[in-house]
Amino acid sequence: MDLLDSGQKFSPRQDPDWDAALEFLPASDSKRLEKKPGRRKKLWIGVGLLLSAAALSLITGLLVWHFHLRSDVRAKRIYIGSMGISDQRFLSSFEDPKSPEFVNLASLVSQQLKLIYSKNSVLAKSFRGSSVQAFSEGDGGGDGVVAYYESEFDVHVSQQASLDEAIRSLEPPAGSQQGRHGRLLLKPADALSVTSVVSGAIDPRMTRNNLFVRKSFSSHVREPGVVQSPGFPDSSYPPNVYLQWRLRADPGHRVRLDFHTLILEDDCEQDFVKIYDSLAPIENKVLTEQCGYPHNSLSFMSSGNVMLLTLVTSDEKNFPGFRANYSQIAATEQKCGGTLSRDKGSFSSPFFPSNYPPKTTCVWKIETTKEKFVKVQFSKFKLGNDSNQCSKDYVDINGQRLCGSKPESTVITSRSNVMTIKFHSDSSYVDQGFTAEYETFVPTNPCPGRFQCTNNLCINTTLHCDGWNDCGDGSDEDNCTCEASQMKCKNGRCKPKFWECDGFDDCGDETDEQNCVKCKPGEFSCRNKRCIPEKLKCDGRDDCSDGSDESQCEKSLVLQTCSEFTFRCRNGRCISKLNPECDEEQDCEDGSDEDGCQCGTRPYRSSRIVGGQVSREGEWPWQVSLHIRGTGHVCGASVLSNRWLLTAAHCVQDNGPNKYSRADQWEALLGLHVQSLTSEWTVRRNVRQIIAHSEYNPLSYNNDIALMELDANVTLNQNIWPICLPSPTYDFPAGQDAWITGWGATREGGLAATILQKAEVRIVNSTVCKSLMSEDVTDRMLCAGVLKGGVDACQGDSGGPLSVTGPSGRVFLAGVVSWGDGCARRNKPGVYTRVTKYRRWIKENSGV
Ligand code: ARG
Repeated sequence: MDLLDSGQKFSPRQDPDWDAALEFLPASDSKRLEKKPGRRKKLWIGVGLLLSAAALSLITGLLVWHFHLRSDVRAKRIYIGSMGISDQRFLSSFEDPKSPEFVNLASLVSQQLKLIYSKNSVLAKSFRGSSVQAFSEGDGGGDGVVAYYESEFDVHVSQQASLDEAIRSLEPPAGSQQGRHGRLLLKPADALSVTSVVSGAIDPRMTRNNLFVRKSFSSHVREPGVVQSPGFPDSSYPPNVYLQWRLRADPGHRVRLDFHTLILEDDCEQDFVKIYDSLAPIENKVLTEQCGYPHNSLSFMSSGNVMLLTLVTSDEKNFPGFRANYSQIAATEQKCGGTLSRDKGSFSSPFFPSNYPPKTTCVWKIETTKEKFVKVQFSKFKLGNDSNQCSKDYVDINGQRLCGSKPESTVITSRSNVMTIKFHSDSSYVDQGFTAEYETFVPTNPCPGRFQCTNNLCINTTLHCDGWNDCGDGSDEDNCTCEASQMKCKNGRCKPKFWECDGFDDCGDETDEQNCVKCKPGEFSCRNKRCIPEKLKCDGRDDCSDGSDESQCEKSLVLQTCSEFTFRCRNGRCISKLNPECDEEQDCEDGSDEDGCQCGTRPYRSSRIVGGQVSREGEWPWQVSLHIRGTGHVCGASVLSNRWLLTAAHCVQDNGPNKYSRADQWEALLGLHVQSLTSEWTVRRNVRQIIAHSEYNPLSYNNDIALMELDANVTLNQNIWPICLPSPTYDFPAGQDAWITGWGATREGGLAATILQKAEVRIVNSTVCKSLMSEDVTDRMLCAGVLKGGVDACQGDSGGPLSVTGPSGRVFLAGVVSWGDGCARRNKPGVYTRVTKYRRWIKENSGV
């Protein structure tokens, strides 16, 4: 902390004064000179000037000496460590820092540390003191007790590096055992039998000097329980705190910690949670560091019977924090490795899909008959960061090391009938691990009845040459003979013919989008499909007569006639520019293209969906969750104004005993992020009236749109903001990126999401969509999806927005989630209500 204090001494706040003194002193003197001239005075002034110059240089010298040369600019440095002690037995009273047994052993440990530090001149000079924070049982490797301590040193700032070096030198070189005869163990009669000392500098964020609250809690996890950040879930966690939870299991057990929610500020420099495989925050025992809204596995296991959870926060921001369940599991419960002798089977890293524990090694041996080989296919592989030569956590297969992340369905084959797979995790940073299927095969026929990809994956033969890359390396789409219904791309791929010229690069080399212009060379193709000479483009005249030859020019044109492709200003005149509304440029003479544009932005700048990911709080401020009283979330909706919401008509139809058409059944939650977790930005409103489109057809889902009026206006806030409504002529071209959001099911037939999900899709060409969907897709519908499959809206997303970002960054409501054929199936895009078709209807019924 002194380090930070001395930093403040140098703070720029004081520098301007100093500069002012230097500059302005002579200036004011010269003024005085002018006012009162005279010889004697001049002499005195000369002497005065000389004196002040001398004083000035003295002060300068003093300051330089003070700040740069004085040898006592010192810094406090804190090291955290653990000490293995073999000649002590763990007593239950060691769990209580106030017990005489704790105090007694702590003092012995402190003495021992002092002794250890006294052997090193750098350490001895700057050592200030140690304090013991906790004890735990030894890990069975000879230690009876492990002590966790903090040692404080006080050094000149220039000596910090050598201090770190000296501390590091206390540790045994990697791999060697620091045994009873190690250099630490010059043992006076009453000293402890120390088997190991591990220490390192504390995470500097834990010593920030604005951490006003520092607290530790201890829990025994024999009985399962809950740890949560203060205030959770009713209020956001407090600012500027450093909290520790020491978790202890019975000997011979592991601590297991499963996060149910973890939502912190995005910037880990500010707020973070860190978990240690220790009772003290020793940096080489970190299991994980988390901030923001992580969507990886948040279930952690210790290697021994202790774990430390820490939370550090900075200035006030509004995030809910975390809740986690703890429990203990017998160390013997999870055995890993062994001999696998079947033809087919699976195996995974310990505790998968939870994170694997640190310090774990498992070996599997797959053995088959002489004439066969072995193949292993990883469906998930996440082993930390790809470190230098996989020296940390790794999987070793017949001598080949794998680490880091591998793509889904990575295949490894053996060249003999045995395969040995070793999994190893080191002492820090864990990850989810892997799960794998193995299979034995006859080398001459590796994929019986299936197609073999170049990367050794076997896929169903029906997926071969179907236009999609199923192998992952594209080999199933190479060298195909295209069928009659397919077109051949230049790169050899076959794609359905109707994708030709649909405005989207399906081939991957653009060949399906080349030569699409039906106009002759030198001609421009208008949006209304007319052809005009190229040179008439942007000539200031509407030659296409739909404005499209003038729609992407430097200057927008006021046209003589309006068409279905041109934007109509309030004064009735039409302009040539494509999508001119709310683009932050005035195009209409009357400025009406920029009216009512307080929409489609994300005011929150602080810091379900299938195949999607967790969104950030405030990222979709127009997203609404519609609840049926007593049931919970049923549909999504979009905020249009402080009073009106837009949803799907099929959400508000009576369904047997469920009177969904009645306004009093509904409750709208605006500014919600996590279901059942409201924040100060969440607003709950009753519904005053529901206006479903009178021509909604429950069989075809045509006109699947409805308005909801809230019973009282809401105050817009950082998490509640309207989305922009597109004018009837707004163009959402095929291939354009769009986002879907919602709390719907995360897989077909699956469960609803808790945290708002988002997924990126593309607008799909209408002709293509009509040919893909078995049911009728009308012109009042819009298709969007990922045709390969895997990404889509699903049950519970209905009524929610299909959001498209316009040229100026404002977000427009292109569609309302309406229907689909299953969810996320291949070649089955989602179908949305085409909002541009209802612009007038919305205005007439809501005034928005
Ligand atoms: N009708 C569904 C609902 O009520 C949404 C369907 C969207 N389906 C899709 N595959 N895009 O929530």
